[in-house]
Amino acid sequence: MIVFGEGMMKKEVVGIRNLNVSYGKKRVLSNVDLSIPDNVRCAIIGPNGAGKSTLIKAILDLIEHDAASVKVLGKPLDEVRSRIAYVAQRSNANRDFPTTVFDTVLMGRYQHLGLFKRPGRRDREIALEAIREMRMEACLDRHISQLSGGQLQRVFIARALCQDADLYILDEPLAGVDENTETIIMDTFIDLQKKGKTIIAVHHDLSTIRHYFDYLVILNEEIKSHGPVEEVFTREQVDKAFKMEIDGREDRKEWVAREDNRLVYV
Ligand SMILES: Nc1ncnc2c1ncn2[C@@H]1O[C@H](COP(=O)(O)OP(=O)(O)OP(=O)(O)O)[C@@H](O)[C@H]1O
Ligand SMILES: [Mg+2]
Repeated sequence: MIVFGEGMMKKEVVGIRNLNVSYGKKRVLSNVDLSIPDNVRCAIIGPNGAGKSTLIKAILDLIEHDAASVKVLGKPLDEVRSRIAYVAQRSNANRDFPTTVFDTVLMGRYQHLGLFKRPGRRDREIALEAIREMRMEACLDRHISQLSGGQLQRVFIARALCQDADLYILDEPLAGVDENTETIIMDTFIDLQKKGKTIIAVHHDLSTIRHYFDYLVILNEEIKSHGPVEEVFTREQVDKAFKMEIDGREDRKEWVAREDNRLVYV
C-alpha cells in the first residue's frame, strides 16, 4: 500500500527499488525508486532521451537492468504478464507486418487462448468491439501498411483493449495523431479507469497533462518528481527536469503559464 493524495491508501501497481540502466558505458537511468498507485491515469514526462521508453522497458523486463526489485500489480512480472497490455512507441518498423486491421487486433486475444487453440467466435466479437471503440470498423480488412499514423495507433490500442488487461502501458500513444484520435484515445483511458484499470502513458504534450492525467512521473535520468498531478506539475519541478545546457548556455526557451493555467514551452 502507498499513500496517495490526502492520506488515501491505494495499492501499488508498479513498485521499483533502486533501478539503474546503462547502454554500454552510457548511464540512462540512475537510482530509480518509484511507486505508482493502482487505478490512476499516469503520465511519464521528460525531455527526449530522458529514459522514458527505457523505464517502461525495464518495468516490462524487456531490457537488462540491475534493479533491487521490480514489482508489477504487486508481484514479480512473470506472474502477471498476461494482465499487462503494452503499446510500444510507434515506429515504421511495426507497420510492415503483412496483416489486416482485424487480424492485428485479434492478436490481442492470443494470450487468453490455450496452447495451439485458435480464436473462437467470442474472441472475434471482442476484437470487433475494440475496433468499434477505436472507430476503425470501416477499415477491418485493410492491410495495416495502408493506414495513416493515427489510424495505426488506434489499431494497436484496440489490440491492447482486446487483452482485457488490468494495467495498460503505452509509449507516446498520442504522438503524431490528430485531434479526433486524441479524443478517442483519452476517452478510452477514462473508461478503463472507471472499470478499475490503471493506465501508464509516456506523454510529450505538457499543455494537456492536467486535463488528461491524474498522476505524474517526471523523469530525466533520475525520477525528478512523482505524485498526483496537482501536487507535482509545477513550473519548478518541470524546470528541474527539462532544463537543458546547450554549449554551456541554458536553453533560451522557457515555460509560460497561459490564462487557463496550462504550461507551454516557448
Ligand atoms: N538500444 C539502445 N542502445 C544504446 N542506446 C540507447 C538504446 N536505446 C536508447 N538509447 C539511448 O538511451 C537514452 C534514453 O533513451 P530512451 O529511448 O529511453 O529515451 P526517451 O525518453 O524515451 O526519448 P524519446 O522522447 O526520444 O522517446 C537516449 O540517449 C538513447 O539514445
Ligand atoms: Mg521514448
